[in-house]
Amino acid sequence: MRTLLLGRTLSWQGDPFIIDPDDAVSIETDGAVLIDHGTIIAAGPRAELARLAPDANAIDFGRRLLVPGFVDAHAHYPQTGIIASWGRRLIDWLNCHTFPEEERFSDAAHAARIAALYFDQNLANGITTCCNFCTIHPQSVEAYFREAERRGLRALGGKVCMDRNAPPGLRDTPISAYDESKKLIDRWHGRERLSYVMSPRFAPTSSPEQLDMIGQLWRERPDCLLQTHISEQHEEIAWVGELFPDHRDYLDVYDSFGLLRDGTLLGHAIHLTAREEARAREAGAAIIHCPTSNTFIGSGLLELARLKADGHRIALATDIGGGSSFSMLRTMAAAYEIGQLANSPLHPAHLLWLATAGAADALGLGHVIGNLVPGMEADITILDLQSTELIARRAARSSTVWDELFATIILGDERAIASVWSGGREVHMATPTTAAGERH
Ligand code: GUN
Ligand code: ZN
Repeated sequence: MRTLLLGRTLSWQGDPFIIDPDDAVSIETDGAVLIDHGTIIAAGPRAELARLAPDANAIDFGRRLLVPGFVDAHAHYPQTGIIASWGRRLIDWLNCHTFPEEERFSDAAHAARIAALYFDQNLANGITTCCNFCTIHPQSVEAYFREAERRGLRALGGKVCMDRNAPPGLRDTPISAYDESKKLIDRWHGRERLSYVMSPRFAPTSSPEQLDMIGQLWRERPDCLLQTHISEQHEEIAWVGELFPDHRDYLDVYDSFGLLRDGTLLGHAIHLTAREEARAREAGAAIIHCPTSNTFIGSGLLELARLKADGHRIALATDIGGGSSFSMLRTMAAAYEIGQLANSPLHPAHLLWLATAGAADALGLGHVIGNLVPGMEADITILDLQSTELIARRAARSSTVWDELFATIILGDERAIASVWSGGREVHMATPTTAAGERH
């Protein structure tokens, strides 16, 4: 049975950082998306698609806006329970809040409970694809992928590797990190909609021997991605300088162990030197921007507009639970506010791009998700741009869909997420809260 979703639709035609935002999208006011077996087979004017598929099961979302499902390119699902923990900077925050919670993931039942809660939060916020650091425990990866698979979601992630500067219960070894990661790759990578991501936490928690083993594994399995953290806070950068005195800078540590190339996801990357920025771009690595985390933990302000102009690949991410919100709308709003502080306001098209097609590209999935065009997986988030009386009043003043969308980015929350589709199935539906909230 084919499904026809009716509403306003937004499809990307290009990158709004490169071409004019209005040329970068095609917006159909009376639009439709036709889905068959989990894949988008057509997107365009409603009348045309209704003719194409008169027998399809049609669902009318009225004036709601159908956008590609949101992509969260960097999160730590095991930190779900410690989100909003007060008053620490990065290294203290890890030691006081994060590591004690991550130790609990040796318990498979705890991991399963938190994985379920995590995906509930994601779907309520319109996130259809996420990329996660699990913990050092293989059972934390099992719980994560099992829950994603049960729900039919696209998900990426991997076992954190760390063999020093962490509590004894949270340390693996170079060999066990290699063996366990490899086993998990064999079990999960490429199964259903799941991808394994090698996950050395960051340079301070891996010995040179461990980074070397992970480099070896990545050479054996180059089809996986690799994620880590870099240059989030100045104290962390100074510590890396002490731990790796023979390397010219932080990025060089990863580079010298073969961990830097197209497929490397660099979390934060706020305080890179000019050399590091140039090298990351040349290598084809992606920078993952975590704006709510960068302000919440007091890390700093990424110069996103400048980096995009320099040609970097950048994705947006929540960084749960250093990040303070599961909402990609709130995450976009935080990116906007940080842009404002650098006197470079991001257009709503930029914000949406970073949370959809831009993030998909950074994850090497630009041909699979992130857009509403034929051939893509039918991962769709349906936004109610009038989800509260306040937003409806503000939206009524808008003369463009961009301005309308901007009001929801800044003011919206879970109530703006009317419906979420993953692989052609509805996986979340909002409880209507306003008169405008009823399904047509
Ligand atoms: N650097 C190393 N580990 C982490 C983490 O869990 N969260 C954040 N924000 N930064 C890190
Ligand atoms: Zn992180």
